[in-house]
Amino acid sequence: MLKNIQDEIIRLKKETDTAILAHSYQSPAVLEIADETGDSFALSTVATKLPQKNIIVCGVRFMAETVKVLSPEKRVFLASPTAACPMAMMIKPEEIVEYKKAHPDTVVVAYVNTTTAIKAVCDVCVTSSSAVSIVSKIDKPVLFVPDKNLGTFIKKNFPDKDITLWNGCCPVHNSVTEEEVIEVKKLYPDAKIAMHPELPDEVLKYADYIGATSGIIKFAESCDDDVIVGTEKSISDYLSIRYPDRAFPVMSKKLICPDMRITNLGDVLRTLKGNGFEVDVLEDVRVNAKKAIDKMIELG
Ligand code: 13P
Ligand code: SF4
Repeated sequence: MLKNIQDEIIRLKKETDTAILAHSYQSPAVLEIADETGDSFALSTVATKLPQKNIIVCGVRFMAETVKVLSPEKRVFLASPTAACPMAMMIKPEEIVEYKKAHPDTVVVAYVNTTTAIKAVCDVCVTSSSAVSIVSKIDKPVLFVPDKNLGTFIKKNFPDKDITLWNGCCPVHNSVTEEEVIEVKKLYPDAKIAMHPELPDEVLKYADYIGATSGIIKFAESCDDDVIVGTEKSISDYLSIRYPDRAFPVMSKKLICPDMRITNLGDVLRTLKGNGFEVDVLEDVRVNAKKAIDKMIELG
């Protein structure tokens, strides 16, 4: 049955000139029918290089909007219309405009987990894989929005830089506690620990590796050890399937993102059959947001 749906999707993709992009947090069934998979940086740029006229994004809304901003000539669909990153809603454009008025010398750096309206009033975007390298190239005071945890991680890399943090966070990663890390370390004392920088600072201090989703996968692939996975549980599941002789325990049972999990093959099939949720952005907002994303690509 699963195979039948996947075969139908593959047939309709060709028939409708559609490419499917899936974030690495998606289920194996969705990843299998994707043309491209990866972290948010990879997904944000890859669509510009694809020949297909239509794109379906299996992920959350900001990812589909970013694809539309960079590829306005393509029709971009979000497979599950309600999939939205709660962190992206933790700041409003007018708050940034006010801040800039009061601090005209400040460079506003926005995590890519933001709405297009936020990107349009920021100076440069970053992803978790490019944040440290991009901020290293900025010589002015920085306002980093909206993730206080990724912001704290960046700040620790540059103790001499003037970096102000917004008070947003990923509710999923931010829920992990130091006690949980200590507990899982007791169970797997020889395992390495790989973590996403959206985790709180008091948790990150136990990490052997800190990086984006793609970096965590590469880190696990580069060693023969068991690896405690400090990000969404899907990455622990993915690694467990690929390397069945090793253990990849997830660091906390709370590391499940409902918005990333909501997409299924039925959403993809419905979209391919012409009943999808098309993402659109206002042209002036798109043009301004593109400047911040282009800057990210230039500096990253
Ligand atoms: P990545 O940049 O690692 O893909 O992370 C996206 C995300 O939403 C993490 O929670
Ligand atoms: Fe947003 Fe966190 Fe879910 Fe990533 S894991 S999409 S940052 S809520």
